[in-house]
Amino acid sequence: MYSAKMPDGFLWGGAVAAHQLEGAWNVDGKGMSIADVMTVGSATKPREITDGVIEGKNYPNHSAIDFYHHYKEDIKLMAEMGFKAFRTSIAWTRIFPNGDDEEPNEAGLKFYDDLFATCHHYGIEPVVTLSHFEIPFNLVKKYNGFTNRKLIDFFVRFATVCFKRYKDSVKYWMTFNEIDNQSAYNEDFLIATNSGIILNNLSEKEKEAAMYQAAHYELVASALAVKVGHKINPNFEIGCMINYSPVRPLTSSSADVLLADKFEQRRDWFSDVHVFGEYPKEVETYINRNGYRSDITDEDRIVLKEGTVDYVGFSYYQTTTVSAEKVKPDELNDLAKAVAKNPTLERSDWGWEIDPEGLRIALNHLTDRYHKPLFIVENGLGAYDKVEADGSIHDDYRVDYLRKHISEMEKAVEIDGVDLMGYLPWGPIDLVSAGTGQMDKRYGFIYVDKNDAGEGDLSRSRKDSFDWYKKVIKTNGLDLN
Ligand code: BG6
Repeated sequence: MYSAKMPDGFLWGGAVAAHQLEGAWNVDGKGMSIADVMTVGSATKPREITDGVIEGKNYPNHSAIDFYHHYKEDIKLMAEMGFKAFRTSIAWTRIFPNGDDEEPNEAGLKFYDDLFATCHHYGIEPVVTLSHFEIPFNLVKKYNGFTNRKLIDFFVRFATVCFKRYKDSVKYWMTFNEIDNQSAYNEDFLIATNSGIILNNLSEKEKEAAMYQAAHYELVASALAVKVGHKINPNFEIGCMINYSPVRPLTSSSADVLLADKFEQRRDWFSDVHVFGEYPKEVETYINRNGYRSDITDEDRIVLKEGTVDYVGFSYYQTTTVSAEKVKPDELNDLAKAVAKNPTLERSDWGWEIDPEGLRIALNHLTDRYHKPLFIVENGLGAYDKVEADGSIHDDYRVDYLRKHISEMEKAVEIDGVDLMGYLPWGPIDLVSAGTGQMDKRYGFIYVDKNDAGEGDLSRSRKDSFDWYKKVIKTNGLDLN
């Protein structure tokens, strides 16, 4: 297996999001977020989004793994693995419970003071996402999420408060988690979880139009936040965050290749705007032809140019394969409809294709396109774990997945010259799955005793992968065995 030492200062660690582990959903003044109205699903049954909290339903994010009260113990375990960085989000509703409040909630701000101080105590650098699928529910109901231009101001106010408060304790920021993860909607969802758009009763065309408008406002909000952040602390590194999945044609036919190109254009435009400060031709043309995104001003275009990001953060889980048998290139709108199964790849228990080399391809592609430092801020395998009678957990499948991906990452850095800031695999401690709401879809090096039904005593224990990852970090990536 190929391995290489990563550059000095390489940020090894892990990534989580507030709503997926903190719990304490209505404690110390926290308001209700979109994640608080999502029920538990399964590998085959999607989560339900309810109109408010309905008694008797199981909302797993309400208590999650209660990181809110266990963070000292959890960060200590991450420090034991040698973490250099810990990515989390600031729950918007802890700071602005309704999203449109005039004043922030001091108790929420204080929680993150303490969390970041704990990280620094162990020499761990916090990496913070401002909005990670946890938009205040009030902003969804009252304004229809980011379809409303007012949301720009609410987000920038939230970002400004965070930048000022954590000016000296956080250096690495990201504005919106997986901003591109909203163009392929799940029909069963009531609300687009990224931008908070209520999708009920909208036609396919109306959904797409709403998405382009909302994403535009999010991009303007992000650019304004980048500008404000750099003023508050010029040493801030503020990045974007996309879900990156290299796209492949199922066959070598021109129709499949063109479809793969078009698919990639409709996914990459979000980061194009973040990095270049302008819309790419294909998407601008597509939007105009369809009459989408009616509201874009000259001032917006200036803001986008002025608020470009410092680095490109991305999650990598799998590649995407598309087939023109499913959708003709010129008829591409709902991206999910073009996706085909790749016959060469194995899948996880949740059907996610496993493709380590895709990570090297992703790193090269993003480097060539953006000429910016990259940051892998999510990667990992969701799997069922078995606890043995003696309490041990032999998760060799997880080690195997991560080892292969890290090896490809190291090739990209060492052989291809990619400028990479760090590697933060998803869910270093078991947490609630964003997609299914399950606890049993586990990513962690640290096991948490809680199952899908919410049973368990929340105790933490080390899986076999814990010691393996500790060794990887200790040798700065050289020893992957
Ligand atoms: C990413 C999200 O899309 O994938 C995370 O940023 C999410 O929030 C992760 O948890 C893994 O997905 P899932 O559905 O397995 O939790």
